Amino acid sequence: MLSSLLLTAAFLTASSIAQFVPAPTDLVTKVGYYNQHVRYKEVPEGICELTPGVKSFSGYVDVAPEQSIFFWFFSSRNEDPNTAPLTVVNNPYAWNNVSNMLFIDHSAQVGFSYSKPVSAYVDSSSGSIVTLPDATCPDYATGICGTFSYPNETDTANSTQGAAPSMWKTLQGFMGAFPQYSRNEFNFATESYGGHYGPVFNEYIETQNALIRKGQLPGAHQISLSTVLIGNGWYDPLIQYQAFYNFTIFPGNTYDYSPYNKSIQNQVYNALYGAGNCYDQTVYCYESGINSICAAADNFCANNVEAVLDNIPGRDEYDIRELAPDPFPYGYWRAYLNSEKVQKALGAFVNYTGDGGNTVYNDFVNTGDDDRESGTIEACRALVSQGVYVVQFVGDADYNCNWLGGQAVAEEIDAPGFYNAGYVDMKTSDHITHGQVKQSANFAFAKIYESGHEVPFYQPLAALELFERGIGRRDIATGKYDVRRGYITKGTPESTYREGNRTVQFTVLPADAIYNTTLNGPNATGNATAKAKRDVRGWKPTRSTQTPLMRRSLGARLGVKPRV
Ligand SMILES: *[C@@H]1O[C@H](CO)[C@@H](O)[C@H](O)[C@H]1NC(C)=O
Ligand SMILES: *[C@@H]1O[C@H](CO)[C@@H](O)[C@H](O)[C@H]1NC(C)=O
Ligand SMILES: *[C@@H]1O[C@H](CO)[C@@H](O)[C@H](O)[C@H]1NC(C)=O
Ligand SMILES: *[C@@H]1O[C@H](CO)[C@@H](O)[C@H](O)[C@H]1NC(C)=O
Ligand SMILES: *[C@@H]1O[C@H](CO)[C@@H](O)[C@H](O)[C@H]1NC(C)=O
Ligand SMILES: *[C@@H]1O[C@H](CO)[C@@H](O)[C@H](O)[C@H]1NC(C)=O
Ligand SMILES: *[C@@H]1O[C@H](CO)[C@@H](O)[C@H](O)[C@H]1NC(C)=O
Ligand SMILES: *[C@@H]1O[C@H](CO)[C@@H](O)[C@H](O)[C@H]1NC(C)=O
Ligand SMILES: *[C@@H]1O[C@H](CO)[C@@H](O)[C@H](O)[C@H]1NC(C)=O
Ligand SMILES: *[C@@H]1O[C@H](CO)[C@@H](O)[C@H](O)[C@H]1NC(C)=O
Repeated sequence: MLSSLLLTAAFLTASSIAQFVPAPTDLVTKVGYYNQHVRYKEVPEGICELTPGVKSFSGYVDVAPEQSIFFWFFSSRNEDPNTAPLTVVNNPYAWNNVSNMLFIDHSAQVGFSYSKPVSAYVDSSSGSIVTLPDATCPDYATGICGTFSYPNETDTANSTQGAAPSMWKTLQGFMGAFPQYSRNEFNFATESYGGHYGPVFNEYIETQNALIRKGQLPGAHQISLSTVLIGNGWYDPLIQYQAFYNFTIFPGNTYDYSPYNKSIQNQVYNALYGAGNCYDQTVYCYESGINSICAAADNFCANNVEAVLDNIPGRDEYDIRELAPDPFPYGYWRAYLNSEKVQKALGAFVNYTGDGGNTVYNDFVNTGDDDRESGTIEACRALVSQGVYVVQFVGDADYNCNWLGGQAVAEEIDAPGFYNAGYVDMKTSDHITHGQVKQSANFAFAKIYESGHEVPFYQPLAALELFERGIGRRDIATGKYDVRRGYITKGTPESTYREGNRTVQFTVLPADAIYNTTLNGPNATGNATAKAKRDVRGWKPTRSTQTPLMRRSLGARLGVKPRV
């Protein structure tokens, strides 16, 4: 009797411990540039990447005593198309087809990056991390236990400007540990909140480069920045909060979709321009720079201007064509990253979270960073004048960081010659017109048709060709011309193509619907094949539980590419 009880207890303990992440013991240690400590391992073949011969490394750069930043590197694919056993679906449009890729979870406590790993669970109603006394999962938390960062709001960044130094240190660490992948130029690709991160982080890199040239940062490495690509970015809230009105009410979107009746239209107008409302509060934030004022302004604008699309027609902010909950883009990668097999392969210290269980989100909310322009426009302008190729691109079905706002941002950046450029079609290898671009020398604004917030998901071929042209410093429209002074697109002053409502959905799609990039919508008939495939893989699709603002703010997983 006693022995059987003990056995049961032992079994229970083993199964509860299985939810936590044991600290990896197989990491190699190196010291990178600027004395940054790096711990990493080679990732076995078949984890995420199926192409044989592609080298993959993952690990951490310890940028501060309690701040370890996760990176995952993939070498460029070789041309051998042989495929390994199917564990994930091979994506022919992966950007490492044309480049080495380095992905960084920034800053500490988001993604696999961490401060101090502790046994905990994420409270499902508040989204916050609740620590446990030891590695035993209580019954009420079964299935949501894991190893997470101790939620200390000082062990991470609380603003865009504040996150720049640790990103630079992460690159110093990686480049010093992997000099073979750090010989050539460096390109930076980012999206969404990357409209804040991209310009500011890269202008910081250029500032550090200038200090290195003056001999002021011994041991640091010059990062020869070539291109900055930003997809559906959030740059300037004063412009972009107004764009919510323009996109849904007047002049409207290109899908002939008008979500509100007259009284709701007036309500949105008033929430934006009424005395003391969103516009005024944001101006006050810009003028005062006070955290509480910016935080209050952002809260007001997000709830009263932005969220009307969520609250009235119930649509997905990231793709106005779909009702919420939107099954696209698929969410099964979260379960994949939270499996023991993948965590072991990566040497992860913690479970994967998009936003560090609200810790970093709360930090950014407290400084009102989302309502600040944070120097993004000036940084873009400076990068262009320093010769960096800045490519701004936008999927035209996204409402959250919509193309009307993006276009107004491009005009505000006012790169030399841009005012006189016109819109021309983007030519791609499939001979389908996927969008238009307006470009002058090393600044381009590209609008991609039939695409939500994440362009590489909705228009994989156009995104890959845009990326390849960008990092090759070629024009976005054709890929044939070197980008240099004097290059200018000659076309129409406005981009007037309208999709109409052919792809707009009026019913909520099933959770396992398949996106068909030929139809630019859910696959016409049957999803049996794809469903079977996904079940075989064993990674059940999950919906994002994050709020829209959280996704824009901290879903920003940066794709950074060192060296072609
Ligand atoms: C954390 O990772 C472990 C595998 O190491 C997994 O069993 C557990 O379900 C994960 N927890 C969460 C909340 O995803
Ligand atoms: C990937 O690269 C190979 C080799 O250059 C090329 O043949 C192939 O067309 C590329 N794939 C895509 C989707 O562009
Ligand atoms: C939070 O982190 C800071 C800096 O690392 C440290 O000084 C402080 O003691 C930590 N707070 C708690 C409650 O652990
Ligand atoms: C943001 O972080 C900075 C630097 O760590 C700190 O001085 C400041 O107090 C923080 N602000 C808030 C509102 O937490
Ligand atoms: C919104 O539309 C107004 C007038 O139609 C225009 O002046 C303004 O620049 C537009 N703003 C944005 C962000 O699209
Ligand atoms: C306008 O739409 C709102 C929200 O759907 C609804 O409550 C209201 O009754 C409508 N007003 C008119 C005049 O139809
Ligand atoms: C779709 O657009 C057509 C033409 O603009 C319009 O007649 C029709 O009412 C629209 N359908 C819906 C459901 O909005
Ligand atoms: C997408 O839809 C087209 C047209 O119905 C169909 O021919 C094609 O097989 C679909 N693609 C996929 C990947 O299912
Ligand atoms: C996909 O299959 C499920 C059953 O597995 C079905 O309920 C659903 O309607 C299908 N979705 C589409 C878009 O056909
Ligand atoms: C999409 O539907 C077509 C039939 O129209 C079917 O042949 C194909 O397998 C489906 N694609 C997926 C990915 O399920």
